[in-house]
Amino acid sequence: MEFPKLRPRRLRLSENIRRLVRETRLTLDDLIYPIFVRYGENIVEEVPSMPGVYRYSVDRVVDAVKEVRDLGIPAIILFGIPEHKDEIGSDTWSEQGIIQRALRRIKKEVPEMYVITDVCFCEYTTHGHCGVLKGHTVDNDLTLENLKKQVISHAENGADMVAPSGMMDGMVQAIRSALDSAGYTHIPIMAYSAKFASAFYGPFRDAAESAPAFGDRRSYQMDPANAREALKEVLLDVQEGADIVMVKPALAYLDIIAKVKEATLIPVCAYNVSGEYAMIKAAGRLGWIDEEKVMIETLISIKRAGADMIITYFAKDVAKLINKGII
Ligand code: PBG
Repeated sequence: MEFPKLRPRRLRLSENIRRLVRETRLTLDDLIYPIFVRYGENIVEEVPSMPGVYRYSVDRVVDAVKEVRDLGIPAIILFGIPEHKDEIGSDTWSEQGIIQRALRRIKKEVPEMYVITDVCFCEYTTHGHCGVLKGHTVDNDLTLENLKKQVISHAENGADMVAPSGMMDGMVQAIRSALDSAGYTHIPIMAYSAKFASAFYGPFRDAAESAPAFGDRRSYQMDPANAREALKEVLLDVQEGADIVMVKPALAYLDIIAKVKEATLIPVCAYNVSGEYAMIKAAGRLGWIDEEKVMIETLISIKRAGADMIITYFAKDVAKLINKGII
């Protein structure tokens, strides 16, 4: 009888040996937790399509941030829902803007938390598009001018990092030079470089009240069919001075994450978006999948593809498992 000469199973026979040969690990260091801050007072409300995710008024957000800190998660990314929207999204650079007020509060009460701000306009404009409209399209260069005001205001109010998500051409360069001229040379830029026009953002748009009032975002976000163009976008952002590049969504774009990792020498972030979260939560609730196992497998796959860090609504759930020694 012929025996197999090579037996890969030898290294799978017990948990101890599996631990020794494991190539990818999820750690607290990988996690960024998104937080929604909204107008009003004394509000903590669950997002219906994102069970376990809440929107907090500024006076209630500090407790949420402390919970994230106590779990050992190093960073949060802030999204704002303002009381008043207008045509240009002027809340984004107002001293009394929702993000500015949240930043001041969080930085005062939880100074050790690393706070990233999402830099965009869709939650702040009446039309729900990611910039200034001219006719029915977003005007790129007018939007750049407003982006500069927004990032400077975020920096003044304590943001540790800014993350422009609007997919405007030249946004990284414009933001870098604005920050530098204002004396914020130390603030890094995490660019949403390869952001696809994705249906996976649905639950986020409910949470952030940022669905476009007409049309869609396909004149600025990328076509899901394009991988080479994603690399072009990433390489442009690197040239323009991005410190970290992002691929978004994550799960349907693991190939893009892997390619971006190979094509760059800067850290790669992946955004495990709202629809990815909602699908797992929904199927888990119905008892159709094991939510916890699918969550871990999903996040491991994103890391294995090449992500150095992951923005995920699962961050607190994963951190709890890590802290209990379960993963
Ligand atoms: C734009 C922005 C979006 C998300 C993050 N930043 C929405 C969009 O492009 O419509 C989506 C995040 C998610 O789905 O979890 N400000």
